[in-house]
Amino acid sequence: MRVLITGASRGIGKSLAKYYKNIGYEIYGIARDKDKLKEVCDKYFVCDLSNLDEVSGVSKKLSNIKFDLIILNAGISTPHSRDFPPIDAFKKVIDVNLLSIHALLEHIDFKDSKLVFISSLASLLGAPTSLAYSASKRALNSYAESLYFAGIDVVLVLPGFIKTDMTKNHNFYMPFLMDLDDAAQRIVKIIEKDKFFNPFPLRFYYIIKLFTFLPDNLKRKILKKYAKSDIVE
Ligand SMILES: NC(=O)c1ccc[n+]([C@@H]2O[C@H](COP(=O)([O-])OP(=O)(O)OC[C@H]3O[C@@H](n4cnc5c(N)ncnc54)[C@H](OP(=O)(O)O)[C@@H]3O)[C@@H](O)[C@H]2O)c1
Repeated sequence: MRVLITGASRGIGKSLAKYYKNIGYEIYGIARDKDKLKEVCDKYFVCDLSNLDEVSGVSKKLSNIKFDLIILNAGISTPHSRDFPPIDAFKKVIDVNLLSIHALLEHIDFKDSKLVFISSLASLLGAPTSLAYSASKRALNSYAESLYFAGIDVVLVLPGFIKTDMTKNHNFYMPFLMDLDDAAQRIVKIIEKDKFFNPFPLRFYYIIKLFTFLPDNLKRKILKKYAKSDIVE
């Protein structure tokens, strides 16, 4: 069995790589940090996913390899802030979180693979302090859904807050914050289940869903208050 994992050097991607290695998978990893990739991957590609030419090069190198599982996990965010993000920072988030995925899949034969997309509960709400991140993840949901309806084996994972480098500098309250190993185990179970839409933790998901049923002006008032708290990274 063979798995390709983007962002296998740290955080969720590394935890998943360790799990699949332990159960005998051959691990292909992609990230920028060579030394960290080497710790867990059998084969690795040092690649900056914000450079789409580099990603295309990797995709071509992988064109003859069959993967049982492809986990599109790598992701970034701009620092949480109500400031309007500069275009370069916004573009980088869209490139890494969305466009690099298409560039990577372009030359890979994934018809018989299971594709796992790591989105976020933040995709369900246009959070005022994470303009680029929410937009990129909502677009990712749509991308994954299109492939799913096209008949590809797709698993869309929407986690809540997890303790990783991505959240370590957040100085705001993160409801239902999960430990990394716990979250990685939940993702493994989700991948085994073969269901398309997988938000977790469910309590947080249902709160967000309930919130989306409120009248728009009330939602806006609540979010404005939330965004007023000092949540700059
Ligand atoms: N943590 C959370 O609370 C949370 C919640 C919901 C969803 N998620 C999603 O889960 C996924 C993993 O997040 P995480 O929390 O594990 O983040 P993380 O600890 O910051 O790890 C991010 C991974 O992505 C790679 N990466 C980042 N920028 C890259 C680039 N330009 N080129 C290549 N690789 C790059 C990093 O590798 P290098 O630095 O070595 O390149 C690293 O392996 C993301 O898609 C994130 O949006 C996270």
